[in-house]
Amino acid sequence: MRPERPNDLSAFWLPFTPNRHFKTNPRMLTGAEGMYFFDPSGRKLIDAAAGLWCVNAGHGRKQITQAIQKAAGELDFAPAFQFAHPSVFALAQRIAQMAPDGMNHVFFVNSGSEAADTALKIARAYWLKRGQGQRFRLIGREKGYHGTTLAGISVGGIGNNRKPYGPLLPGTDDHLPFPYDPKTMRFTRREPQTGAEFADALEGLVLLHGAETIAAVIVEPFAGSAGVFASPKDYLKRLRAICDKHGILLIFDEVITGFGRLGHSFAAERYGVTPDIITFAKGVTNGTVPMGGAIVSDAVHDAFMDGPEHAIELFHGHTYSGHPLACAAALATLDLYRDEGLFERAKKMEPVLEAAVHALKGAPFVVDIRNVGMAAGIELEPDPKAPGRRGYDAIKLAYAEQDMVIRVGGDTIALSPPLIAGESDISRIVEAIRGVLARLN
Ligand SMILES: Cc1ncc(COP(=O)(O)O)c(C=O)c1O
Repeated sequence: MRPERPNDLSAFWLPFTPNRHFKTNPRMLTGAEGMYFFDPSGRKLIDAAAGLWCVNAGHGRKQITQAIQKAAGELDFAPAFQFAHPSVFALAQRIAQMAPDGMNHVFFVNSGSEAADTALKIARAYWLKRGQGQRFRLIGREKGYHGTTLAGISVGGIGNNRKPYGPLLPGTDDHLPFPYDPKTMRFTRREPQTGAEFADALEGLVLLHGAETIAAVIVEPFAGSAGVFASPKDYLKRLRAICDKHGILLIFDEVITGFGRLGHSFAAERYGVTPDIITFAKGVTNGTVPMGGAIVSDAVHDAFMDGPEHAIELFHGHTYSGHPLACAAALATLDLYRDEGLFERAKKMEPVLEAAVHALKGAPFVVDIRNVGMAAGIELEPDPKAPGRRGYDAIKLAYAEQDMVIRVGGDTIALSPPLIAGESDISRIVEAIRGVLARLN
């Protein structure tokens, strides 16, 4: 055994991070409260990313942390296979009530990645149950992000997340085109008014493969990790109509959009479209305890509820599915969202964030600005010799010089402040971004 070395950062392999660079100059966070993180010196950093799109009610919410403490004292763990505990039922019911009509069943997991994986498995198993096991294709979309399991990266459309991992899942080769046209859509505010026709590409895949081979289509109602792209007006409606026409299941990955980011419980509500499965995670516990899940329509769920009553209907689940601490955190979080009207607040602040970010047009390297709900993307011209370098520099400059934590995907800065953000927080964030842009090269 090697002797323990104080302050040795080498053992921890950070996810989605340039490890060697990070360890030469780590960005440590040791506390958080409201809109702010604190670093080890006590410096306050404004959180422009709600952690990782998850801390929607702001940091350090006592109602949530106290609920977690209480739950830990009462029931530290209960097996989720063949046993259960009361709060998991209460939570499932609460979430089903927030979901569109007819979506009344919730399967719990521990992350957004597992939620997407679960939705895709349920889709395939559903068709097998219905005697149509030849419906195995899972159609994703270019630039889609559905987490990091092999299934998630297979339907996902971000090259860097896929390329290192060899052959991916069979039946996932097809991806719908990304519904964005840079020639006509740059600097669009909220949903582009054109572009619904991008959904028609699904008809092409039906012609190519036959609808009888397609199990499901999975899309994010707004592409978060790709850099904040709202769905074009009526795009999701059109996708729903084509899925209906061909009996294809539609999955909305609402890991980011669930719980208020677009001003509603789920983006399905904003767009007036009911999918067959909704995935969620992140905001369900305000980021405090890992939890995710899939909300399933009655029709899909009920297809599994046949066969002998002693028999397991779905061979799927996790040791920590519906963990008591996560359930306590989620119930307290949902109370807080309701009591503070945070989803309505997000809707009210949408024009404020919109006006503030679009004022960055013309700032150095800015080639596009997009916004929807309480999220905005500021796309920078990539350094032709080193794509992604400017984005990473923006993170470093924001932390070192602007006392701010931001999220970046490639060369796009993604802003998604906690939904408690006020006008002064938003202008502080956007002015700090202006300061960052001025220092880029
Ligand atoms: C749309 C979407 N799906 C899935 C995930 C994966 O979630 P997790 O990181 O909790 O596995 C994310 C994470 O950002 C996401 O944005």
